[in-house]
Amino acid sequence: MGALDKKIRKDKKRILKLFGKHISQGQVRYLRCAHLDVQEERRAGIEFVDKESGTTFFDAFTSAGCFNAGRGNPRIIAALEEAMEEYDMGSPGLFSRAKIDFASKLVSLCPGNLKRLVLAGSGADAIDGALKLALGATGRKEIIAMVKAYHGHSGFSLSVNGKEYYKHLFEPLMPGYHFAHFGDLDEVRKLASRNTAAIIIEPIQGEGGIHVGSDEYLHGLRKLCDELEIMLIFDEIQTGFGRTGRLWASEHSGVVPDIMVAAKSISGGLYPNAAIVYRDNDLFGRFVEAYPDFHTSSGGGSDLGCMVSSAVIDYIVEKKVWENAARSGARFKAGLEDITRENPEIVKEVRGRGLMLGVEYKYEFIGALMADSLAKEGIWAAYSGNAPQVMRFQIPTTATETEVDVILGRIRNAVKAMKPYLIFMMPLAKIPVFRIVFDNVKFQIFAFNVVRDFEEIFKSMKAR
Ligand SMILES: Cc1ncc(COP(=O)(O)O)c(C=O)c1O
Repeated sequence: MGALDKKIRKDKKRILKLFGKHISQGQVRYLRCAHLDVQEERRAGIEFVDKESGTTFFDAFTSAGCFNAGRGNPRIIAALEEAMEEYDMGSPGLFSRAKIDFASKLVSLCPGNLKRLVLAGSGADAIDGALKLALGATGRKEIIAMVKAYHGHSGFSLSVNGKEYYKHLFEPLMPGYHFAHFGDLDEVRKLASRNTAAIIIEPIQGEGGIHVGSDEYLHGLRKLCDELEIMLIFDEIQTGFGRTGRLWASEHSGVVPDIMVAAKSISGGLYPNAAIVYRDNDLFGRFVEAYPDFHTSSGGGSDLGCMVSSAVIDYIVEKKVWENAARSGARFKAGLEDITRENPEIVKEVRGRGLMLGVEYKYEFIGALMADSLAKEGIWAAYSGNAPQVMRFQIPTTATETEVDVILGRIRNAVKAMKPYLIFMMPLAKIPVFRIVFDNVKFQIFAFNVVRDFEEIFKSMKAR
């Protein structure tokens, strides 16, 4: 081992130790066990480089859709640099060119009559604002959300999160929140009434395991909302800005919501920003004019964020990244379907649109095994937070078909490398008690860390 290698390894040990000490030891163990204890250094396009190993990783997670315009996009970096020469966060209550330019640009791209907006600081913050807007404008008290939905971790957004694990410690959350299974219109019909302020849905459920809302379902929700004067909220935080092969996922069905929430790729992963876009009508107009500061914060819709977001929109529109997402996504999906056909004992199905794709495995624990196997192949991919049996692939919308082919080759290798483990695990997984153990995250972290310890001992013996 060279002197530089030794120094980098020592540096890495120090970083893991400090991360564990000051942030989370559990996270260190979790990442280490999946060979994801990497340090993102140079970031470019669909890749980043791990400092220690020098390995180039393909970013197939993109923080669930934050980097649609590619990582380290030079045009967006330049916009941030330029913004910093002139601007700071700005004052939320005052006018600024940055805010006005961005707001006009964003609404010009939104469907239907979605022409007004409130700026926010993050996805969860914007979901809070969207729910408050619906509750405040209608004066109603109930909300309907979807089982396995993910909308964030702040007060209102956590209340519409469809996973008990995130919520149970903090109850009681917001009262009057109901849940229906994604895709089940009858269930929503049973829950909806003139007490319902809003129905909130991701047009393609992301963390829930990449479930595409059918046209029939989304039109059914729209009709129900019109009948009962309920506000339909689309959370386009993951699906927006070209990810699904259209600028907005709502364009696939043509259903226009009353409120649409955008965040993540809105600012290219460079500076936090988010927006709650809503219909220009009397109901909302009266409420917002009466309570103009119903949802405000110091950093939400900051001038720097707005300048960056304007540059992101220019880039996304000029490059029509949604067309590339449709093209590269079709190739990616076809490749994943081939892999599914080649491995019917492991993979159940492939779902998704554009470059928002999910692979559902036969069992939950395969998601964890596959994340590890992919990391060893230089792919950073995460299984769905609310559905661990589904691996998400959300590479930047700028990815070329050639890059997709390279990724598919690596996925194939990863599946192959995982098979020796599965020879033992698959027959055992048919016995419920083993399945419960294998699916248990604590067991996975323990077992994978033991394997990793052995690997490192072996590696250091070889290096001597
Ligand atoms: C669909 C969806 N809604 C809301 C959020 C919350 O956004 P943020 O992490 O910016 O708070 C996320 C984040 O992953 C998301 O995927």
